Amino acid sequence: MEVNEKLSKAVCNLVAIIGGQKGGLGKTTISLNIATFLTDAKKVFQIDNNNFQVDILNSKKVKGITVKTDKKAMEEALDEADFASYNEPVVIDAGGGDDTTKVFNGAQAIGLKAEYYLPLTPDPDTLVVLQQTKELIVDGSPVNLIFSNFRNLVEDFWFIFGSEEYGIEPNLEILKQFDNIYQVPNSPLFAIAKAYQTTVWDLALIHTHYELQEEKQKWRELGKEQYHKKMQMHRLSVDCHNLLENVKNSKNNIEV
Ligand SMILES: Nc1ncnc2c1ncn2[C@@H]1O[C@H](COP(=O)(O)OP(=O)(O)O)[C@@H](O)[C@H]1O
Ligand SMILES: [Mg+2]
Repeated sequence: MEVNEKLSKAVCNLVAIIGGQKGGLGKTTISLNIATFLTDAKKVFQIDNNNFQVDILNSKKVKGITVKTDKKAMEEALDEADFASYNEPVVIDAGGGDDTTKVFNGAQAIGLKAEYYLPLTPDPDTLVVLQQTKELIVDGSPVNLIFSNFRNLVEDFWFIFGSEEYGIEPNLEILKQFDNIYQVPNSPLFAIAKAYQTTVWDLALIHTHYELQEEKQKWRELGKEQYHKKMQMHRLSVDCHNLLENVKNSKNNIEV
């Protein structure tokens, strides 16, 4: 079966596709932790030929489905993904290089209702990758830019915002091509979620299931050590919550 036919069987309400023909942009991090949260998707397909599996076995919110395409044809990979069986939003981590191209082309050929998220990191080389990836989207689907894995937005993205100090002109025109712009800063919380084999979204939800003052009473009865551990987990949860809220609120708050 053709790739396009496979995708046309999809009945997804929304497909968030994260792409960029390069490794290390944050595609997998954003797919698992951010795109799921923003779109309320419960499944992440990782279509990637050079991806090692990111285990999120302890996630209650998100199921990760790895589709390896190293020795397989894309058709076979999509067979395995079987989008047709999901009548709900899903996220596709389109992987690097050829996989991004194939998934992007396939999705558009059949008019899949999709939204694209393209990460940009503080490395001017990734701007070329971004432009190439953007050019693959020709069907008018929303294309969102994600400033990914940075510490200081304006300083780190000097090749966009310019640098007065070093006499570099801003290049803000680039931003006008995108429907929405989000910011996903560098944070240890992504790696911490990974270490727990879960997502930042799952961690963020922990503290929403209880009322702190009531819970604190119970924790005290468990002894000092347990109380301390529970409080650490509580703070982790609050920080994860704030990280996600900040990402959500970062939508379009850069003037272009
Ligand atoms: N916002 C971020 N904060 C901290 N680390 C990040 C962030 N985004 C990506 N990383 C790290 O950078 C590396 C590459 O990210 P990854 O999501 O695997 O990129 P890709 O899927 O595009 O290859 C990983 O080690 C990941 O943990
Ligand atoms: Mg990846």
